[in-house]
Amino acid sequence: MTNTNFSDISRRQLLKAMAVAGATIGTWSLAGCSARNEGTSAQGSSSNTSKSETDSTPTETNATSTETNATSAETSTPTQASGNTLVAVFSWSGNTLGVANRVVEDLQGQAELFRIEPATPYTTDYDEMLQIAQDEQAANTMPAIAGAVSNWNEYATVYLGFPTWWGHLPQIVKSFLAEHDCSGKVVYPFNTHAGSGFASCLSDLAEACPNADIREGLSLVGEDVSSSTAQIDDWVSKNA
Ligand SMILES: Cc1cc2nc3c(=O)[nH]c(=O)nc-3n(C[C@H](O)[C@H](O)[C@H](O)COP(=O)(O)O)c2cc1C
Repeated sequence: MTNTNFSDISRRQLLKAMAVAGATIGTWSLAGCSARNEGTSAQGSSSNTSKSETDSTPTETNATSTETNATSAETSTPTQASGNTLVAVFSWSGNTLGVANRVVEDLQGQAELFRIEPATPYTTDYDEMLQIAQDEQAANTMPAIAGAVSNWNEYATVYLGFPTWWGHLPQIVKSFLAEHDCSGKVVYPFNTHAGSGFASCLSDLAEACPNADIREGLSLVGEDVSSSTAQIDDWVSKNA
């Protein structure tokens, strides 16, 4: 795995992207990010729903803020079908998966977990991943996802988790949303990051699913996930 050898170009590009996204640059140190070296890749099983997973390894370093962001539904009141709850998460290195697992626990058997994974597994190298994610964004690539949610129509509520990538929703999450229509569903976004918060993720989300009822989200610093259990619990209980 890589250590602290970001190239200058990576640093410049990242800072520029975060500035464009209005990100909190001061709290996301590139050195801290590059210190990540135990990333638990989101690859592996392409299976669909499962009750919960325990292999999350929150590893992020060097960030301090925690925030709760809200977004309102962009459209007129969508129909809210009664039905089941899904926790769908993309997590490259395990932080957001840690939140997802806690949400599933909090929902006490009422929710299924679906991991959003690329059909072709991503690299486990951090610097390479930065570049790939940036290229995907620049080209608006929609990477194919592995698997699909069974019985998607039966879910009325979706907790959707993702990391902030270059100030935005990862393209793989956009692929998921393109294949899983959230119209009429209640969506609770949750996120981990290294200082930027949701940045532009919520506007990306609203654009990707304009007919969903997007509710108040939870955004946590990746390295704080393991100490944020109470905050996750509060957020879930407010939504119940
Ligand atoms: C490709 C890539 C881009 C990232 N871009 C940002 C960013 O713009 N802002 C930020 O605060 N953190 C950024 N990060 C850090 C992640 O958002 C943070 O480590 C997050 O907790 C990772 O979640 P995960 O472990 O679920 O993948 C980036 C990380 C990667 C790998």
